[in-house]
Amino acid sequence: MLKKASSLHISVITLFPDIFTAHLTHLPISRAVEKGLLQIDFINLRDFAIDKRGTVDSLPYGGGPGMILRPEPIFDAIKSGLDKTLTDEPADIIFLTPKGKTYNQATAVQLSTAKNLILVCGRYEGIDQRVMDYLINPISPIASTRTQEISIGNYVLSGGEVASMAIIESVTRLIPGAIENQEALANESFNLNQPNQTEHPQYSRPEEWRGLRVPAELLSGHHENIKRWKGANSDSSL
Ligand code: 6GU
Repeated sequence: MLKKASSLHISVITLFPDIFTAHLTHLPISRAVEKGLLQIDFINLRDFAIDKRGTVDSLPYGGGPGMILRPEPIFDAIKSGLDKTLTDEPADIIFLTPKGKTYNQATAVQLSTAKNLILVCGRYEGIDQRVMDYLINPISPIASTRTQEISIGNYVLSGGEVASMAIIESVTRLIPGAIENQEALANESFNLNQPNQTEHPQYSRPEEWRGLRVPAELLSGHHENIKRWKGANSDSSL
């Protein structure tokens, strides 16, 4: 019998929840939700607009291109996310921004042990810095929250939605029971027991394709040789 795993609750704050819909219907997220291991809900930032016209942004002080997300709608949306938390466990508030700390598998592992995640998707030229400053305060004015700014790499996206999907998917894979074949996790690239080591190349049928043959070791049926070949062909240059 599977040990009953505790569930993870994710609230995503976004102006574009529809971007996520297809993603949720596929593995591993669909199965994790079905099994009650994961709950995701969307908070539409527009619902926290400052006026009836739906305003959530303003011009940047000091000039510059584009618009900035104002602090009030973002903060009210975060507070509504905190109201939805499952337990009195602390919530991790994550701002998706290109100037955040670069996401990696170690961060995914850390987040997979959380009970409540609030993912805040920026848009336009960014979010008013005061929201982050207010929350990142070591003694957070909002009880039991942890806040960090995360980027998924050194390039610029138009918003945090794609970054949020990367986080949701990578974290979900790590929830015990979310993936059918847990062995796949163990062998995978970026497995933390083999730090900085990526998986060996993989081959399937046919044995020969366009003149290229599957390495003989893998066809040999000799377990020691296969193991040695896999080790020698894992890339640890990262
Ligand atoms: Cl999290 N947001 C945006 N807008 N661009 C990014 C990113 C996030 N991570 C890498 N580029």
